[in-house]
Amino acid sequence: MSAFGLYVHWPFCAAKCPYCDFNSHVRTSVDEEGWAEAILREMAHVAELQGTDRPVLQTIFFGGGTPSLMSARAVERVIDVAARLWPSANDLEITLEANPASAETARFADYAKAGVNRLSLGVQALNDADLKFLGRLHDVGEAKAALTLGMRTFARVSLDLIYARPGQSLEAWRAELAEALSFGTEHLSLYQLTIEPETPFATMHKGGIFHLPDDDLAASFYEATQDMTARAGVPAYEVSNHARPGCESRHNLLYWRYGAYAGVGPGAHGRLDVNGKRIATVCERLPERWREKVVRNGHGFTDISEIDDRAGAREHLLMNLRLSEGLDLAAYRARWGSALQPERIAALAADGFVKLEAGRLSATPRGMLVLNRVIAELAD
Ligand SMILES: C[S@@+](CC[C@H](N)C(=O)[O-])C[C@H]1O[C@@H](n2cnc3c(N)ncnc32)[C@H](O)[C@@H]1O
Ligand code: SF4
Repeated sequence: MSAFGLYVHWPFCAAKCPYCDFNSHVRTSVDEEGWAEAILREMAHVAELQGTDRPVLQTIFFGGGTPSLMSARAVERVIDVAARLWPSANDLEITLEANPASAETARFADYAKAGVNRLSLGVQALNDADLKFLGRLHDVGEAKAALTLGMRTFARVSLDLIYARPGQSLEAWRAELAEALSFGTEHLSLYQLTIEPETPFATMHKGGIFHLPDDDLAASFYEATQDMTARAGVPAYEVSNHARPGCESRHNLLYWRYGAYAGVGPGAHGRLDVNGKRIATVCERLPERWREKVVRNGHGFTDISEIDDRAGAREHLLMNLRLSEGLDLAAYRARWGSALQPERIAALAADGFVKLEAGRLSATPRGMLVLNRVIAELAD
C-alpha cells in the first residue's frame, strides 16, 4: 500500500515576516469554527474523489501560516474527522508547526491531548538582534522556553532556523548551530535565507539596505552545516532537513518520495492517486475567497487536473533528488516507462555533481548546491 498523507493549511499569522512568501495573512479576528468547518468540508470532498477504496492515512501535517494560532478544539476536530474519512495507520504521525510566542506554547498540552505527536518549532535564530531583523515576535528566551516545553510535551520535536543572514559570519553560524544541536532535538530544518520576490526583504535587498553572503560564503555555510549536523548524529536527509536516522519527517518524506497526499485549506496543493491516475489539486490562495468556494462547491479548488507521465516523471525526479537517498532508477523506469539518459548521468557524475550507487542516483554535496541545474540537465 503506497503512503498517503493529509496537509492542512492554516493561513493566518499574528504578523507577516518580511522575508516570507508563504500563503499567510494577518487578520484582526478569525472565526475559528467557521474556518475549521470549511477545512472539514474540503477533506470530505477529497475523500469522495478517492471513492470507497481509500488509501491508509499515515501522516497529518498542520502547516501555515501559523497553525499554533488554531484552537486545540479545531485541531482535534480535523484529526477526528480524518480518522473517520480514511483508514489510519496505527502509528499515524501528526505534526503541527508552531511559533514560539508564549500565547501559543500555552496550548501545547491541549494539542498533545488532541493527538498531535510531533512539533515543528519556528525558532529561526538564537540571538535577539537577528530575530528582530527577521521581524519575529518572539525573543530567544521565549524560543528556548517553547523548546523545553515542547520536548517535554511531544514525543518528537523539530526546530527551524534560518541561516546565512545578512552580516552573519561563518563563525557566528557555527556557534549558533552548535547551540541548536545541544538542545538534542531529533530533527532540524536549516534553511539558507532566500530573498523571495515581492517581499519587503526583496525591496530592501534591491535598495542595498543589506547584502547577502556571496556564493562562496554561502557554500561554506552549507558545508559547515552538513559537517556539523553529521558529526552530531543528525545528518542531512534532504537539502535543508536533518534528522537522527529513523526520525525523519514522514510527512515530508512522502512529498520527496513522490507519494500521494491531500492538500486542504487556502493555497494548499495535493497529489492524489485516483483510478490509477495521478491528479493534481490546487486550492484558491486568498482565504476568504477559498472559504466562499468551499461553501458554494464543497471544495476550494481552482484547478484539478491529471498529471501526464512526462510531467509526473519530472516531478518525481525533482522531488527524489532533494533526498540524500536519491532516486531508484529501476523504480522510476517501471513507473513512468522511460529512463533517464545514461550519458547525461555519466557526464554529471564525471563532474562530481551526482553519484550512482546500487541502482540509486543521488546528488553529491557539490550537486546539492546547484540542484536546480542538475535536475534541468537530467530532465531535458
Ligand atoms: C511556514 S513557515 C513555519 C511556520 C511558522 N509560521 C514559523 O514561521 O515559524 C516554514 C519555515 O520556512 C522557513 N522560511 C520561510 N521563508 C523563508 C525564506 N525566505 N528563507 C529561508 N527560510 C524561510 C522558516 O524557517 C519557517 O520556519
Ligand atoms: S510566522 Fe511563519 S508563515 Fe507567518 S509570516 Fe512569519 S515565516 Fe511566514
